[in-house]
Amino acid sequence: MKNSKLLTAFNSKPLKLSNRVVMAPMTRCRAVGNTPNDIMVTYYALRAETGLIITEGVSPSKNGLGYPNIPAIYSDEQTAGWRKVSDAVHAKGGKIFLQIMHTGRIAHVLNLPKGGEVVGPSPIPAAGEIFTIEGMKAKAIPREMTKQDIEKTQNEYLRAAQNAIKAGFDGIEIHAANGYLPNQFLDKGSNRRNDEYGGSIENRCRFVLELTQKIVNAIGNEKTAIRISPLGQFNDMTVYEDINKTYNYLVEQLNSMDIAYLHLARMSNAISEEFLEGLASKFKGIVIFNGGYGYDLASAEKILSKNNRYLVSIAMPFVSNPDFIERIKLDAELNEVDESTLYTLGEEGYITYPILENSLI
Ligand SMILES: Cc1cc2nc3c(=O)[nH]c(=O)nc-3n(C[C@H](O)[C@H](O)[C@H](O)COP(=O)(O)O)c2cc1C
Repeated sequence: MKNSKLLTAFNSKPLKLSNRVVMAPMTRCRAVGNTPNDIMVTYYALRAETGLIITEGVSPSKNGLGYPNIPAIYSDEQTAGWRKVSDAVHAKGGKIFLQIMHTGRIAHVLNLPKGGEVVGPSPIPAAGEIFTIEGMKAKAIPREMTKQDIEKTQNEYLRAAQNAIKAGFDGIEIHAANGYLPNQFLDKGSNRRNDEYGGSIENRCRFVLELTQKIVNAIGNEKTAIRISPLGQFNDMTVYEDINKTYNYLVEQLNSMDIAYLHLARMSNAISEEFLEGLASKFKGIVIFNGGYGYDLASAEKILSKNNRYLVSIAMPFVSNPDFIERIKLDAELNEVDESTLYTLGEEGYITYPILENSLI
């Protein structure tokens, strides 16, 4: 792609990246025993030419492991496993943030390790079924979190963030998008609490803002980032009457923390570009646009041309094209994704996609 802004270096405090392409977080369910392994090291290292990699969602606790074979970062063994991933990416000149994901009510007890429990802001199950080792099952009814649970969970995130820094990551991204625990607190459908964590906009945003502030205090604002999905309905999130105001308030409050970036997840092209761009213009720091902006490289270029502090994240094409950056440079054809191996165990469909001949990776 000639004269592509996507491929130019990015330097806006606190991120210095070799290009403006971000690999969006993608759960791939390869972490047997919830611990990173060698094929995960290979998978991420193969993609190190990307400006910034954001890892798949990584759980801060047993309760956050709602899907089978997703990774965690609460134990020393898990932290040591992640060290190998960040070292391999850094050895090739890449940058990598770890996404902290707590699944909350998007879970089934069959998927949780011993001692894990399905929790959420209110005892309201999400609609639909979830994949388990015994096939598809209805999503669990979560136990309503007490205030003690809330504090404990926030502290688990905080420790996970500290572990990620110990494991050599350039920073962490709080997954407050796509219907997982922090998003469950923001949403009026999943949060029916009557205490200071439910009801008003300020109350529904409290869990996320307290959490972000605690992590900023522990590892620093320049290493703390957040992903939100304004107006998204994935995982049974709802569109309620003051949803725009909720996200405007959240972004205003995040501004005062001066975090590394704001990542706007977009799982559907139906979500208003105008609203997302309005939120981005309110945010004072770096903004990563996702979904629809990246699939079609022309729209990625268009959004990048609007502001020098914008980046674009791309998910699916990275599944089947480890050398995606090389392919953009050369206008090369892309490998198609085999959806049947997105979440299966082992190497097939994970580190077996072909790279271009003469590729440098
Ligand atoms: C296989 C797969 C796994 C995903 N896992 C995560 C995840 O762990 N965390 C997250 O924030 N988003 C996750 N997403 C959403 C993507 O990051 C992205 O927002 C979405 O795919 C839209 O981007 P795209 O149009 O470039 O594919 C996942 C998407 C896919 C396809």
